[in-house]
Amino acid sequence: MKKSFLYLGKQPIANSFLSTLSKKSIKSEYFYNLIVSFDTKNYLVSVKNPVNPKIQYTDKYAHRASESKTMREAFKNIAYKLQKRFHPKKIMEIGSNDGVFLKNFPKHKVIAVEPCKNLAKITKNKFKTYPNFWNKKLSKLILKRNSKIDLIFSANTISHIPNIKETFEAIFHIISDNGVLVIEDPSLSSIININSYDQFYDEHVYVFSALAIRNIAEKYNFTLFDVEKTDTHGGSLRYFICKKSSNHKKTNRLKKIINEEKHMGLAHIKTYKKFADRVKKSKIKLINLLKKLKKDNKKIISYGATYKSTTVFNYCKIGLDYFHYVTDTTKNKQGKFTPGTHIPIVPPEKGFNDSVDYAFLGAWNFKKEIMNKEKKYLKRGGKFITHVPKVEILS
Ligand code: TYD
Repeated sequence: MKKSFLYLGKQPIANSFLSTLSKKSIKSEYFYNLIVSFDTKNYLVSVKNPVNPKIQYTDKYAHRASESKTMREAFKNIAYKLQKRFHPKKIMEIGSNDGVFLKNFPKHKVIAVEPCKNLAKITKNKFKTYPNFWNKKLSKLILKRNSKIDLIFSANTISHIPNIKETFEAIFHIISDNGVLVIEDPSLSSIININSYDQFYDEHVYVFSALAIRNIAEKYNFTLFDVEKTDTHGGSLRYFICKKSSNHKKTNRLKKIINEEKHMGLAHIKTYKKFADRVKKSKIKLINLLKKLKKDNKKIISYGATYKSTTVFNYCKIGLDYFHYVTDTTKNKQGKFTPGTHIPIVPPEKGFNDSVDYAFLGAWNFKKEIMNKEKKYLKRGGKFITHVPKVEILS
């Protein structure tokens, strides 16, 4: 049974940055009610009414995984580790973005699947790319033209696809008998631990735990045989899954992580209700802090036009009344406006200057990288505001 526990209000599509603030574009902005629920049977946490993927993953999709040094290095590192552990002959990535992971393998070994046409265009001249949504039809088409796949990798994508049944059945069809499916997504335990409620937005239809993935895998004839913790996106889990009939052994760290999750209460609705209470408190604290700074005439901006900050801004109803603008390094976000709150996005070279007193860390998941990069700002007395793991000022 699905039980709703978190209400994050009316939200726009997190990646739908507006190109203009014309009456027409404001009127056509799409909003939905962001409600998060917990399934007491399989322990899966999900957005209650998922948005149609065709509205989300268009040829205007803004996120470029290669933008951040942290992500470039993380993908290079995992590609090396997977190659060394499994020696795959054929590798496929579902949701290959701009090729940041696949570029670490020999070209002839890889297949990219990426439904956002603008992103698929980036990789199509480098390696075999299918500009399609992942489903059974595509799986059959790829298998007609290729051998079975030994390693299927998918980072921050499987959690975005509403139809879990079709996703796993299509993978079952194409993966080799002893093949490995590696899925990586923000982990539910980290979100609960650090109160990062902004990981809930339209794209994150599911927020997985090892407990839930173990149940899903079993249901579709797979076995979860290993799990690894990673630092990406504020704490993610990397799941290693194989066919039930294959010979990969369950690891001790899988048992350990499953036990940790049980101990944390991830199998009980009570845990989620307590989390929702903490989220409400975080909202009040953030608004009060911004109000005070504004009263003191401080100039506040936001750093990183993230999808996560779409949730924060719209849930807390904070926009131009507090933030002068948002800075972001991504070229195709610059010159646009944030979804729902319509704050202008400018390049850091233009906006991150001596006039800024406080910068809200929209990209808090890159805190280390940003604090390192912005030493000069901090030295001259500039401060950051974060809401993760709690609302506080960083100086
Ligand atoms: P991302 O981590 O993808 O978060 P989300 O999935 O919530 O959108 O986005 C990080 C954004 O922050 C991306 O648009 C690039 C931007 N950014 C900066 O502007 N400056 C930086 O130093 C870093 C690390 C990121």
